[in-house]
Formats: sequence, C-alpha cells, structure tokens
Amino acid sequence: RKFIVAIDGPAASGKSAVSETLAVRLGFLHVNSGAIYRCATLLAIRNDLLDLQFKKNLDRMREILKETKITMGPLGTSPIKNENVNRPSTAIFLNGENVTDQISKIEITKNVRFLAKIPEIRAASIEKQRELVQSKNLFETRADSKVDGVIVEGRDIGTAVFPNADIKFFIEAEAKARAKRRFDELVARGLNVDINGDPVDYEQILEDILQRDQEDLTRTHSPLRKAKDAIVIDTSNLSLDQVVGKVESSILK
Ligand code: CDP
Repeated sequence: RKFIVAIDGPAASGKSAVSETLAVRLGFLHVNSGAIYRCATLLAIRNDLLDLQFKKNLDRMREILKETKITMGPLGTSPIKNENVNRPSTAIFLNGENVTDQISKIEITKNVRFLAKIPEIRAASIEKQRELVQSKNLFETRADSKVDGVIVEGRDIGTAVFPNADIKFFIEAEAKARAKRRFDELVARGLNVDINGDPVDYEQILEDILQRDQEDLTRTHSPLRKAKDAIVIDTSNLSLDQVVGKVESSILK
C-alpha cells in the first residue's frame, strides 16, 4: 500500500513546486492532477473538440483520453533540472511526447476550465490519477527511504479523489502573491506570450488567476475546498524552501 500525501490549493499557489521538490527529497512518486486536465485540453485543441456541449464531441474526447497514455517523470537523468527552473521538475508526456512546456502555455491555461467543469472528463481524469498513483516511480527512489510514497496535487485530491490520504495539505496564498509567482515563472521559462506571440503582463495573469479562483470555487462537480483534516499553510510570505520544510517535517513527524 502506498503512503499518499495530498496537496491541494488554488491556482499558482506553488503546489507543483512544493510537490516536485519534496518528491525528489523523499524519493516519492509525483502525480500532478492539474497536468492531466491540461493534457486533456491540449488534446481537445489538437482534435478540434474544445466545444464539449455536443455529446458526439464529448464521447470522442473520452475515447481519445482513454487511448492516450499520460506519464510523469524525469526527462533524462533523474532528477531533471529544467534549465530555466532552478529546481528539479517533473516532465509530462503524452504517448511519450514531452509536452511539459506546451501544457504550461497561456492558451491551455485559459481553456482548461471548459473541460474541468464536465463530470465525465473529471471522472476520466480521476481514473488516470488513480492509475498513475499505482504506477512505477520513474524518479530515483531513495535507498534509505522505508516508505513507498506518492505526492498527489490538485484541487480536489484530499476531498474527492483520495479522501483517505495519509496526510493532507492545503497550500494557499494571496492572489497577488500567486500572480507574481506565476508571472515570474512564465518569464523564466519564456512562456509569457499569448497565442499571437504578444507578451502577457502581470495584470493579465492576475486577472486569469482571479477568474480561475471563481470557477474552481463555484464548480458544482468537485469544487476547490479545504479538507477538514488538511494542514493549512499560507505561503504568501514564505519562500519555497520554507514551505517545503514545513510540509516535510509534518510528513516525517
Ligand atoms: O498551477 P495552476 O493552478 O495554474 O494549474 P494546475 O494545477 O495545472 O491546474 C490547471 C487547471 O485544472 C485549473 O485551472 C483547475 O481548474 C483544473 N484542475 C481541476 O479542476 N482539478 C484538479 N484536481 C486539478 C486541476
């Protein structure tokens, strides 16, 4: 049985950075549920199926998701260092194609909401999350680690997907702090451009985050909520290292 760590929180709260860093430190598997919704969005765009109001499109989309293998792990050597991100990061593959940067693009971020609100897509995504949790850890596991663990991050992991997780965290920060972090990250990765190649500024990122907060909270199916037993960490004034330290010490306690 795997030891499950659930990390939930709103857009750009730093869930991925914390999860990636901690997974490498503890030798745990990392499952990023947001990346699955992002992959689904990329597939919908590629197959011209973004409008899922039609049953025909929705059925086709579900088929495509079923046929597509999504994997998460190191790029080459483990742990990878994305040359633009100064920490280990998890690469995301669609049938073996590295889509890590593509799914982080603003075009994807703006369109995820159309898929994330559809119950059938959430069910398909949750199925993939459960499969990934049971999959092999492609990162080096630590020889001294006695625990077979997995870190699963998202919006509804501690409440809907793994309500019996061994330990749960809810990572939050003020919207402005989250927008600043996401903006800096996109600049560092050279992804701060829209679909036309025009630069995107901090104000636009903030607006997107506020809109996604609204949608995440008001979604009828699996909305963003704090699990009652989650350890809440407000990271507005904390560095990544400080957050990782807090989460790690709670896990090791
Ligand atoms: O880091 P950021 O919050 O920008 O994105 P993410 O975690 O990659 O999630 C992308 C989108 O997928 C979010 O806008 C969520 O609405 C949706 N999502 C979800 O509905 N449920 C999850 N468990 C994870 C993400």
